[in-house]
Amino acid sequence: MLDPYRIREDFPILKRKINDYPLIYLDNAATTQKPRQVVDAIKHFYENCNANIHRAVYTLSQESSELYESAHEDIAKFINADGMEEIIFVRGTTEAVNLVAYAWGLHNLGKEDEVMVTLMEHHSNIVPWEALSKIKGFKVRYADVNDDGTLNYESLENAVSNKTKIVCLTHVSNVTGVINDVKNVTRIAHEHGALVLVDGAQSVPHLPVDVNDLDIDFLAFSGHKMLGPTGIGVLYGKREVLEEMEPFQSGGSMIKEVTFDTTTKRCLSSWNDLPWKFEAGTPNISGGVGLMAAVRYLKDVGMQNVKAHEKKLTDRALNRMQECEKIRIYGPKDAALKCGIIPFSVDGLSSHDVALFLDSYGVMIRSGFHCAQPLHEKFKLKSSARVSFYIYNTTEEIDRLVEVLKEIEQFQ
Ligand SMILES: Cc1ncc(COP(=O)(O)O)c(C=O)c1O
Repeated sequence: MLDPYRIREDFPILKRKINDYPLIYLDNAATTQKPRQVVDAIKHFYENCNANIHRAVYTLSQESSELYESAHEDIAKFINADGMEEIIFVRGTTEAVNLVAYAWGLHNLGKEDEVMVTLMEHHSNIVPWEALSKIKGFKVRYADVNDDGTLNYESLENAVSNKTKIVCLTHVSNVTGVINDVKNVTRIAHEHGALVLVDGAQSVPHLPVDVNDLDIDFLAFSGHKMLGPTGIGVLYGKREVLEEMEPFQSGGSMIKEVTFDTTTKRCLSSWNDLPWKFEAGTPNISGGVGLMAAVRYLKDVGMQNVKAHEKKLTDRALNRMQECEKIRIYGPKDAALKCGIIPFSVDGLSSHDVALFLDSYGVMIRSGFHCAQPLHEKFKLKSSARVSFYIYNTTEEIDRLVEVLKEIEQFQ
């Protein structure tokens, strides 16, 4: 089992006090805190090996290139991909989805086609598809969500047809924490010849994720939500799908050759090998190094342990929050169906008021619609308050959260 008290020693920020109260950080779905090991890896990189990669023969550049490639290899192993060729470093989940939309969708989707998403998506898995549909004329269809926040698989299955070219769904909802049955959706999509893009922003940091077992075509996730630095994320793609795709951005690093053709007076280019074909320009090298340290940290903790710890915290929070009379919890009340994310409201108070009240006691939570407005509309909510847990949160912190929520009820 994971020991959160031991883990907390690696996170200097958790020693901070806010308004003289110990900091309780419960906004991990937005971004996680960083352990010393990640900060040290980045510092070590800049102090010892910094140079541009894949361009020079001198020692620093060789070391830098090796580190950056190792980062791809470690992440491939972490999600059980078939090698680093399938791992593209991007800025985060948002850029990964845009990469698929513009490098694959722009060239493969037409007026007769359909793209399937779900009503529980983060805006980053809705807006790129709606924007591209304005250019290409395809239809975006939405699988429904049940009142308890679970995906309505029947509505998805009924809407998928041979017109569907890609099904895009989140693995774990960033609002309710609901875990979707990706294997089932992949089976349905593949039966109709559609590809599957999974938004793993809230699953890869919290559960063991195996792309081979899930048999998905793309997986997008963000480093900063799994102990890594901001500005680095991953798009996994099946090698045969990536090989068929056009590049996303063009310029240096993503080409093998650029030659001037004297007959046509134009430059001709050929693309670099995977994954570099999709990484134009100087990449976020230190970000890759930091993400590698984060993945190594999580591997040492063990992803099954991460999952079990969060389930324990979620169980406790769901039970204890229900002691508060004015609190409404949205989504499933069974911790086995979800990751450690709980959206709620307090009768008579806006979500921002709830968050500000908690902040005055040192408890950091998210308020708003969490970039998932369609799901809030489905729940007939303008906004919600949201707590989300990670490896360094403790049962004492959950109890303190409930204590302060009870104060809010008194205060009204
Ligand atoms: C489910 C989900 N998808 C996508 C994103 C976007 O991630 P990023 O802002 O790192 O690109 C988030 C961030 O909250 C998320 O929770």
